[in-house]
Amino acid sequence: MNFSNTDISIAHELDARDELASFRDEFVIEEPDLIYLDGNSLGRLPKRTVNFMRNAIEKEWGGRLIQGWNDGWISTPTELGAKIAKLVGAKADEILVTDATSINLFKLALAALKARQNRTGVVSDVLNFPSDLYILQGVIDLLGNHHHLTLIPSADGITIAPEAVDAAIDDNTALVSLTHIAFKSAFMHDMARVTEQTHRAGALMLWDLSHSVGAVPVDLNGCNVDMAVGCTYKYLNGGPGSPAFLYVRQDLQAQLNHPMWGWLASENPFAFELDFTPASGISRYGVGTPPVLSLKAVEPAIDILLEADVKRLPTESVKQTDYLFFLAEQWLTPFGFTFGTPRQAEIRGSHVSLRHPEGYRINRALIESPPPAKKVITDFRVPDNIRLGIAPLYTTFAEIHQALDRMRIIVEEKIYEQYSNEK
Ligand SMILES: Cc1ncc(COP(=O)(O)O)c(C=O)c1O
Repeated sequence: MNFSNTDISIAHELDARDELASFRDEFVIEEPDLIYLDGNSLGRLPKRTVNFMRNAIEKEWGGRLIQGWNDGWISTPTELGAKIAKLVGAKADEILVTDATSINLFKLALAALKARQNRTGVVSDVLNFPSDLYILQGVIDLLGNHHHLTLIPSADGITIAPEAVDAAIDDNTALVSLTHIAFKSAFMHDMARVTEQTHRAGALMLWDLSHSVGAVPVDLNGCNVDMAVGCTYKYLNGGPGSPAFLYVRQDLQAQLNHPMWGWLASENPFAFELDFTPASGISRYGVGTPPVLSLKAVEPAIDILLEADVKRLPTESVKQTDYLFFLAEQWLTPFGFTFGTPRQAEIRGSHVSLRHPEGYRINRALIESPPPAKKVITDFRVPDNIRLGIAPLYTTFAEIHQALDRMRIIVEEKIYEQYSNEK
Protein backbone atom coordinates (compact mmCIF):
# COMPACT_ATOMS: atom_id res chain seq x y z
CA MET A 1 0.00 0.00 0.00
CA ASN A 2 1.23 3.52 -0.77
CA PHE A 3 0.75 6.39 1.62
CA SER A 4 1.14 9.89 0.24
CA ASN A 5 2.43 11.77 3.29
CA THR A 6 2.90 11.68 7.05
CA ASP A 7 0.09 14.08 7.91
CA ILE A 8 -2.32 12.89 10.64
CA SER A 9 -5.22 13.57 8.24
CA ILE A 10 -4.17 10.46 6.27
CA ALA A 11 -4.47 8.36 9.44
CA HIS A 12 -7.93 9.80 10.09
CA GLU A 13 -8.99 9.05 6.52
CA LEU A 14 -7.77 5.46 6.83
CA ASP A 15 -9.62 5.06 10.14
CA ALA A 16 -12.81 6.41 8.55
CA ARG A 17 -12.53 3.73 5.85
CA ASP A 18 -11.61 0.91 8.28
CA GLU A 19 -14.31 -1.79 7.99
CA LEU A 20 -13.52 -3.09 11.49
CA ALA A 21 -13.54 0.33 13.18
CA SER A 22 -16.81 -0.26 15.04
CA PHE A 23 -15.27 -3.21 16.92
CA ARG A 24 -13.05 -0.86 18.95
CA ASP A 25 -16.23 0.00 20.84
CA GLU A 26 -16.42 -3.59 22.05
CA PHE A 27 -13.37 -3.04 24.30
CA VAL A 28 -12.87 -1.28 27.61
CA ILE A 29 -10.79 1.83 26.92
CA GLU A 30 -10.39 3.53 30.28
CA GLU A 31 -7.78 6.05 29.19
CA PRO A 32 -8.55 7.32 25.68
CA ASP A 33 -5.14 9.02 25.55
CA LEU A 34 -3.21 5.85 26.29
CA ILE A 35 -1.85 4.30 23.11
CA TYR A 36 -1.81 0.55 23.56
CA LEU A 37 0.40 -1.33 21.13
CA ASP A 38 0.88 -4.46 23.21
CA GLY A 39 -2.17 -6.52 22.26
CA ASN A 40 0.34 -9.10 20.99
CA SER A 41 1.29 -9.73 24.65
CA LEU A 42 -2.00 -9.14 26.45
CA GLY A 43 -5.17 -8.28 24.54
CA ARG A 44 -7.60 -5.64 25.77
CA LEU A 45 -10.60 -6.50 27.95
CA PRO A 46 -13.84 -6.90 25.94
CA LYS A 47 -16.73 -5.00 27.54
CA ARG A 48 -19.05 -7.98 27.25
CA THR A 49 -16.61 -10.12 29.27
CA VAL A 50 -17.41 -8.04 32.36
CA ASN A 51 -21.11 -8.94 32.50
CA PHE A 52 -20.49 -12.45 31.26
CA MET A 53 -18.10 -13.04 34.17
CA ARG A 54 -20.41 -11.37 36.67
CA ASN A 55 -23.09 -13.83 35.60
CA ALA A 56 -20.67 -16.77 35.74
CA ILE A 57 -19.60 -15.86 39.25
CA GLU A 58 -22.87 -14.73 40.80
CA LYS A 59 -25.46 -16.86 39.02
CA GLU A 60 -23.53 -19.96 38.01
CA TRP A 61 -21.06 -20.37 40.86
CA GLY A 62 -22.99 -18.44 43.52
CA GLY A 63 -26.43 -19.70 42.52
CA ARG A 64 -25.95 -23.17 41.12
CA LEU A 65 -22.93 -24.29 43.16
CA ILE A 66 -21.79 -27.85 42.32
CA GLN A 67 -24.75 -28.24 39.93
CA GLY A 68 -22.82 -26.00 37.52
CA TRP A 69 -20.82 -29.02 36.37
CA ASN A 70 -24.01 -30.67 35.12
CA ASP A 71 -25.25 -27.37 33.66
CA GLY A 72 -22.35 -27.31 31.23
CA TRP A 73 -19.09 -26.37 32.99
CA ILE A 74 -17.65 -29.79 32.20
CA SER A 75 -17.87 -29.25 28.45
CA THR A 76 -16.39 -25.73 28.46
CA PRO A 77 -12.95 -26.89 27.19
CA THR A 78 -14.44 -28.67 24.16
CA GLU A 79 -17.17 -26.10 23.41
CA LEU A 80 -14.64 -23.30 23.47
CA GLY A 81 -12.34 -25.48 21.35
CA ALA A 82 -15.09 -25.78 18.73
CA LYS A 83 -15.25 -21.98 18.51
CA ILE A 84 -11.47 -21.60 18.24
CA ALA A 85 -11.56 -24.27 15.51
CA LYS A 86 -13.42 -21.77 13.31
CA LEU A 87 -10.55 -19.31 13.68
CA VAL A 88 -7.84 -21.75 12.63
CA GLY A 89 -9.45 -23.95 9.97
CA ALA A 90 -9.95 -27.02 12.18
CA LYS A 91 -12.89 -29.30 12.91
CA ALA A 92 -14.98 -28.69 15.99
CA ASP A 93 -13.69 -31.82 17.75
CA GLU A 94 -10.00 -31.21 17.07
CA ILE A 95 -9.35 -28.47 19.62
CA LEU A 96 -9.31 -28.51 23.41
CA VAL A 97 -8.83 -25.42 25.57
CA THR A 98 -6.69 -26.44 28.51
CA ASP A 99 -3.51 -25.75 30.50
CA ALA A 100 -0.73 -23.35 29.38
CA THR A 101 0.85 -23.33 25.92
CA SER A 102 4.09 -24.71 27.35
CA ILE A 103 2.28 -27.59 29.03
CA ASN A 104 0.34 -28.44 25.88
CA LEU A 105 3.55 -28.39 23.89
CA PHE A 106 5.10 -30.78 26.40
CA LYS A 107 2.16 -33.18 26.16
CA LEU A 108 2.08 -33.19 22.36
CA ALA A 109 5.85 -33.27 21.78
CA LEU A 110 6.14 -36.27 24.07
CA ALA A 111 3.21 -38.00 22.41
CA ALA A 112 4.83 -37.39 19.01
CA LEU A 113 8.24 -38.78 20.00
CA LYS A 114 6.60 -41.87 21.45
CA ALA A 115 4.72 -42.32 18.17
CA ARG A 116 8.00 -42.17 16.17
CA GLN A 117 10.12 -44.46 18.36
CA ASN A 118 12.56 -45.45 15.61
CA ARG A 119 13.68 -41.85 14.94
CA THR A 120 15.78 -39.51 17.07
CA GLY A 121 15.72 -36.12 15.32
CA VAL A 122 13.80 -33.13 16.69
CA VAL A 123 13.86 -29.94 14.62
CA SER A 124 13.09 -26.38 15.66
CA ASP A 125 14.61 -22.97 14.88
CA VAL A 126 16.67 -20.26 16.55
CA LEU A 127 13.79 -17.75 16.36
CA ASN A 128 11.49 -19.93 18.43
CA PHE A 129 10.15 -18.76 21.79
CA PRO A 130 12.69 -20.01 24.35
CA SER A 131 10.05 -21.74 26.45
CA ASP A 132 9.24 -23.96 23.46
CA LEU A 133 12.90 -24.91 23.18
CA TYR A 134 13.18 -25.56 26.92
CA ILE A 135 10.15 -27.85 26.70
CA LEU A 136 11.71 -29.79 23.81
CA GLN A 137 14.99 -30.07 25.72
CA GLY A 138 13.09 -31.28 28.79
CA VAL A 139 11.19 -33.88 26.78
CA ILE A 140 14.46 -35.18 25.29
CA ASP A 141 15.96 -35.35 28.78
CA LEU A 142 12.93 -37.20 30.12
CA LEU A 143 13.23 -39.77 27.33
CA GLY A 144 16.84 -40.53 28.29
CA ASN A 145 18.72 -38.12 25.98
CA HIS A 146 18.54 -40.39 22.95
CA HIS A 147 17.18 -37.59 20.75
CA HIS A 148 19.00 -34.69 19.20
CA LEU A 149 17.54 -31.18 18.88
CA THR A 150 18.57 -29.37 15.67
CA LEU A 151 17.93 -25.64 15.52
CA ILE A 152 17.49 -24.25 12.02
CA PRO A 153 19.78 -21.21 11.76
CA SER A 154 18.77 -17.72 10.64
CA ALA A 155 21.15 -15.82 8.37
CA ASP A 156 19.88 -12.38 9.45
CA GLY A 157 18.40 -13.03 12.90
CA ILE A 158 14.98 -12.05 11.48
CA THR A 159 13.92 -14.70 8.96
CA ILE A 160 14.42 -18.42 8.31
CA ALA A 161 15.12 -19.40 4.71
CA PRO A 162 12.91 -22.23 3.33
CA GLU A 163 16.08 -24.02 2.13
CA ALA A 164 17.43 -23.97 5.69
CA VAL A 165 14.23 -25.69 6.85
CA ASP A 166 14.58 -28.33 4.12
CA ALA A 167 18.21 -28.95 5.04
CA ALA A 168 17.37 -29.61 8.70
CA ILE A 169 14.69 -32.26 8.09
CA ASP A 170 15.69 -35.79 7.11
CA ASP A 171 14.52 -39.38 7.39
CA ASN A 172 15.65 -39.56 11.02
CA THR A 173 13.44 -36.61 12.01
CA ALA A 174 10.65 -37.59 14.38
CA LEU A 175 9.21 -34.15 15.08
CA VAL A 176 9.35 -30.65 13.63
CA SER A 177 8.17 -28.12 16.23
CA LEU A 178 8.08 -24.47 15.16
CA THR A 179 6.37 -21.26 16.12
CA HIS A 180 4.44 -20.05 13.08
CA ILE A 181 5.13 -16.36 13.78
CA ALA A 182 8.34 -15.57 15.62
CA PHE A 183 7.83 -13.72 18.91
CA LYS A 184 10.59 -11.19 18.27
CA SER A 185 10.81 -10.57 14.54
CA ALA A 186 7.23 -11.55 13.54
CA PHE A 187 8.71 -13.69 10.74
CA MET A 188 6.03 -16.10 9.47
CA HIS A 189 6.87 -19.60 8.24
CA ASP A 190 5.05 -21.00 5.22
CA MET A 191 2.86 -23.45 7.13
CA ALA A 192 1.75 -25.47 4.09
CA ARG A 193 5.27 -25.84 2.70
CA VAL A 194 6.98 -26.78 5.97
CA THR A 195 4.23 -29.21 6.94
CA GLU A 196 4.43 -30.90 3.56
CA GLN A 197 8.22 -31.16 3.77
CA THR A 198 7.90 -32.66 7.28
CA HIS A 199 5.40 -35.24 6.10
CA ARG A 200 7.53 -36.13 3.08
CA ALA A 201 10.28 -37.05 5.53
CA GLY A 202 7.84 -39.15 7.56
CA ALA A 203 7.93 -36.86 10.62
CA LEU A 204 5.16 -35.19 12.65
CA MET A 205 4.52 -31.44 12.59
CA LEU A 206 3.68 -29.34 15.63
CA TRP A 207 2.97 -25.60 15.25
CA ASP A 208 2.81 -22.97 17.98
CA LEU A 209 0.14 -20.47 16.91
CA SER A 210 0.44 -18.06 19.85
CA HIS A 211 1.19 -15.04 17.64
CA SER A 212 -0.96 -16.17 14.72
CA VAL A 213 -4.46 -16.94 15.98
CA GLY A 214 -6.72 -13.91 15.61
CA ALA A 215 -4.12 -12.03 13.56
CA VAL A 216 -3.25 -13.92 10.37
CA PRO A 217 -5.06 -16.59 8.33
CA VAL A 218 -4.45 -20.10 9.66
CA ASP A 219 -5.77 -23.21 7.91
CA LEU A 220 -4.73 -26.24 9.95
CA ASN A 221 -6.83 -28.75 8.01
CA GLY A 222 -5.98 -27.19 4.68
CA CYS A 223 -2.27 -27.60 5.51
CA ASN A 224 -2.85 -31.10 6.90
CA VAL A 225 -1.18 -30.10 10.18
CA ASP A 226 -0.77 -32.87 12.75
CA MET A 227 -0.65 -30.91 16.01
CA ALA A 228 -0.74 -27.32 17.18
CA VAL A 229 -0.80 -25.27 20.38
CA GLY A 230 -1.47 -21.62 21.04
CA CYS A 231 -2.40 -19.10 23.68
CA THR A 232 -5.60 -17.12 24.15
CA TYR A 233 -4.36 -14.04 26.01
CA LYS A 234 -2.83 -12.22 23.03
CA TYR A 235 -5.01 -11.54 19.96
CA LEU A 236 -7.86 -13.65 21.42
CA ASN A 237 -8.23 -11.25 24.38
CA GLY A 238 -8.97 -14.01 26.90
CA GLY A 239 -7.29 -12.24 29.86
CA PRO A 240 -4.01 -12.57 31.76
CA GLY A 241 -2.88 -16.20 31.87
CA SER A 242 -6.04 -17.46 30.18
CA PRO A 243 -5.94 -21.17 29.28
CA ALA A 244 -4.22 -22.21 26.07
CA PHE A 245 -5.50 -24.51 23.33
CA LEU A 246 -4.20 -27.60 21.62
CA TYR A 247 -5.13 -29.17 18.29
CA VAL A 248 -4.67 -32.77 17.19
CA ARG A 249 -5.90 -33.80 13.75
CA GLN A 250 -8.85 -36.15 14.09
CA ASP A 251 -7.24 -39.22 12.49
CA LEU A 252 -4.21 -38.95 14.79
CA GLN A 253 -6.11 -38.73 18.06
CA ALA A 254 -6.22 -42.48 18.57
CA GLN A 255 -2.45 -42.80 17.94
CA LEU A 256 -1.03 -39.91 19.96
CA ASN A 257 -1.12 -40.58 23.66
CA HIS A 258 -0.06 -37.80 25.95
CA PRO A 259 1.89 -38.56 29.11
CA MET A 260 -0.33 -37.17 31.87
CA TRP A 261 -3.04 -39.69 32.46
CA GLY A 262 -5.33 -37.58 34.59
CA TRP A 263 -8.91 -38.53 35.30
CA LEU A 264 -10.32 -35.91 32.93
CA ALA A 265 -8.37 -37.47 30.07
CA SER A 266 -10.04 -40.79 30.73
CA GLU A 267 -13.01 -42.30 28.95
CA ASN A 268 -15.32 -42.17 31.92
CA PRO A 269 -13.96 -40.06 34.80
CA PHE A 270 -16.94 -40.63 37.04
CA ALA A 271 -16.73 -44.41 36.83
CA PHE A 272 -13.62 -44.05 39.06
CA GLU A 273 -12.05 -47.14 37.55
CA LEU A 274 -8.62 -48.16 38.85
CA ASP A 275 -7.02 -48.48 35.39
CA PHE A 276 -6.74 -45.67 32.88
CA THR A 277 -8.54 -45.82 29.53
CA PRO A 278 -8.03 -42.69 27.42
CA ALA A 279 -11.09 -40.80 26.21
CA SER A 280 -11.76 -41.45 22.55
CA GLY A 281 -11.80 -37.85 21.26
CA ILE A 282 -9.89 -34.62 21.87
CA SER A 283 -10.73 -34.78 25.61
CA ARG A 284 -7.94 -37.34 25.99
CA TYR A 285 -5.51 -34.41 25.92
CA GLY A 286 -6.93 -32.90 29.10
CA VAL A 287 -5.57 -33.74 32.54
CA GLY A 288 -7.40 -32.38 35.59
CA THR A 289 -10.37 -30.20 36.52
CA PRO A 290 -10.76 -27.35 34.00
CA PRO A 291 -10.38 -23.77 35.35
CA VAL A 292 -13.98 -22.86 34.55
CA LEU A 293 -13.85 -19.15 35.35
CA SER A 294 -10.70 -18.57 33.31
CA LEU A 295 -12.16 -20.56 30.45
CA LYS A 296 -15.40 -18.58 30.59
CA ALA A 297 -13.53 -15.31 30.14
CA VAL A 298 -12.24 -16.50 26.77
CA GLU A 299 -15.69 -17.12 25.31
CA PRO A 300 -17.08 -13.59 24.78
CA ALA A 301 -13.71 -12.53 23.38
CA ILE A 302 -13.82 -15.25 20.75
CA ASP A 303 -17.42 -14.41 19.88
CA ILE A 304 -16.27 -10.90 18.96
CA LEU A 305 -13.59 -12.30 16.64
CA LEU A 306 -16.14 -14.58 15.01
CA GLU A 307 -18.52 -11.66 14.53
CA ALA A 308 -15.73 -9.57 13.02
CA ASP A 309 -15.05 -12.46 10.64
CA VAL A 310 -11.54 -13.73 11.02
CA LYS A 311 -10.93 -13.38 7.26
CA ARG A 312 -11.14 -9.60 7.49
CA LEU A 313 -8.57 -9.26 10.27
CA PRO A 314 -5.39 -9.95 8.26
CA THR A 315 -6.31 -7.37 5.59
CA GLU A 316 -6.57 -4.70 8.24
CA SER A 317 -3.45 -5.88 10.01
CA VAL A 318 -1.42 -5.69 6.78
CA LYS A 319 -2.66 -2.15 6.06
CA GLN A 320 -1.79 -0.99 9.56
CA THR A 321 1.63 -2.64 9.69
CA ASP A 322 2.38 -1.22 6.20
CA TYR A 323 1.47 2.22 7.53
CA LEU A 324 3.75 1.69 10.51
CA PHE A 325 6.63 0.77 8.18
CA PHE A 326 5.95 3.87 6.06
CA LEU A 327 6.05 6.24 9.05
CA ALA A 328 9.11 4.54 10.52
CA GLU A 329 10.95 4.98 7.22
CA GLN A 330 10.07 8.66 7.13
CA TRP A 331 10.66 9.49 10.77
CA LEU A 332 12.78 6.89 12.53
CA THR A 333 15.38 5.33 10.25
CA PRO A 334 17.13 8.73 9.92
CA PHE A 335 17.72 8.45 13.71
CA GLY A 336 19.36 5.04 13.64
CA PHE A 337 16.35 2.74 13.80
CA THR A 338 16.41 -0.43 11.73
CA PHE A 339 13.65 -2.96 11.06
CA GLY A 340 13.69 -6.20 13.03
CA THR A 341 10.69 -7.50 11.06
CA PRO A 342 10.51 -8.55 7.41
CA ARG A 343 9.15 -5.87 5.10
CA GLN A 344 7.11 -8.30 2.92
CA ALA A 345 3.59 -8.76 4.27
CA GLU A 346 3.46 -12.40 3.10
CA ILE A 347 6.12 -13.46 5.59
CA ARG A 348 5.26 -11.41 8.65
CA GLY A 349 2.69 -11.43 11.42
CA SER A 350 0.88 -8.56 13.12
CA HIS A 351 3.64 -6.96 15.18
CA VAL A 352 6.64 -4.94 14.08
CA SER A 353 10.00 -4.81 15.82
CA LEU A 354 11.94 -1.58 15.52
CA ARG A 355 15.56 -1.86 16.56
CA HIS A 356 17.73 0.84 18.05
CA PRO A 357 20.90 0.68 20.20
CA GLU A 358 18.99 2.76 22.80
CA GLY A 359 15.85 0.62 22.39
CA TYR A 360 15.52 -0.13 26.10
CA ARG A 361 15.60 3.50 27.20
CA ILE A 362 13.39 4.65 24.30
CA ASN A 363 10.84 2.01 25.32
CA ARG A 364 10.93 3.26 28.90
CA ALA A 365 10.44 6.85 27.73
CA LEU A 366 7.43 5.76 25.66
CA ILE A 367 5.79 4.15 28.67
CA GLU A 368 6.94 6.41 31.49
CA SER A 369 6.96 9.97 30.11
CA PRO A 370 4.75 12.17 32.32
CA PRO A 371 1.78 14.16 30.89
CA PRO A 372 1.19 16.08 28.70
CA ALA A 373 3.24 13.56 26.65
CA LYS A 374 1.11 10.73 25.35
CA LYS A 375 1.79 7.43 27.05
CA VAL A 376 2.56 4.66 24.56
CA ILE A 377 2.65 1.04 25.73
CA THR A 378 4.95 -1.10 23.61
CA ASP A 379 7.30 -3.80 24.80
CA PHE A 380 10.99 -4.47 24.65
CA ARG A 381 12.80 -7.67 23.74
CA VAL A 382 16.55 -8.04 24.16
CA PRO A 383 18.90 -6.88 22.86
CA ASP A 384 17.37 -3.86 21.09
CA ASN A 385 13.85 -4.57 19.83
CA ILE A 386 10.87 -2.37 20.55
CA ARG A 387 7.83 -4.43 19.59
CA LEU A 388 4.68 -2.69 18.41
CA GLY A 389 1.66 -4.96 18.29
CA ILE A 390 -1.18 -4.26 15.88
CA ALA A 391 -4.50 -5.71 17.01
CA PRO A 392 -6.77 -4.93 14.07
CA LEU A 393 -9.95 -5.07 16.17
CA TYR A 394 -8.99 -2.04 18.22
CA THR A 395 -5.73 -0.46 17.01
CA THR A 396 -6.32 2.69 14.96
CA PHE A 397 -4.18 4.33 12.28
CA ALA A 398 -4.24 7.50 14.38
CA GLU A 399 -2.71 5.60 17.31
CA ILE A 400 0.06 4.29 15.08
CA HIS A 401 0.70 7.83 13.87
CA GLN A 402 0.81 9.24 17.40
CA ALA A 403 3.05 6.44 18.69
CA LEU A 404 5.62 6.84 15.93
CA ASP A 405 5.52 10.61 16.25
CA ARG A 406 6.23 10.21 19.95
CA MET A 407 9.16 7.87 19.17
CA ARG A 408 10.53 10.45 16.78
CA ILE A 409 10.37 13.17 19.45
CA ILE A 410 12.00 10.89 22.05
CA VAL A 411 15.02 10.24 19.83
CA GLU A 412 15.20 13.69 18.24
CA GLU A 413 15.14 15.46 21.62
CA LYS A 414 17.12 12.67 23.30
CA ILE A 415 14.39 12.37 25.97
CA TYR A 416 15.45 8.73 26.52
CA GLU A 417 18.65 10.00 28.18
CA GLN A 418 16.53 10.86 31.25
CA TYR A 419 15.91 7.13 31.80
CA SER A 420 18.23 4.58 33.29
CA ASN A 421 19.50 1.59 31.37
CA GLU A 422 19.15 -0.59 34.47
CA LYS A 423 16.83 -3.51 33.82
C1 LIG B 1 5.22 -18.21 20.90
C2 LIG B 1 4.96 -18.48 22.34
N1 LIG B 1 4.92 -19.75 22.77
C3 LIG B 1 4.71 -20.04 24.07
C4 LIG B 1 4.52 -19.05 24.99
C5 LIG B 1 4.34 -19.41 26.43
O1 LIG B 1 3.02 -19.54 26.73
P1 LIG B 1 2.56 -20.07 28.19
O2 LIG B 1 3.09 -19.08 29.16
O3 LIG B 1 1.06 -20.07 28.10
O4 LIG B 1 3.12 -21.42 28.40
C6 LIG B 1 4.53 -17.71 24.58
C7 LIG B 1 4.32 -16.63 25.55
O5 LIG B 1 4.28 -15.47 25.26
C8 LIG B 1 4.78 -17.42 23.22
O6 LIG B 1 4.85 -16.17 22.77
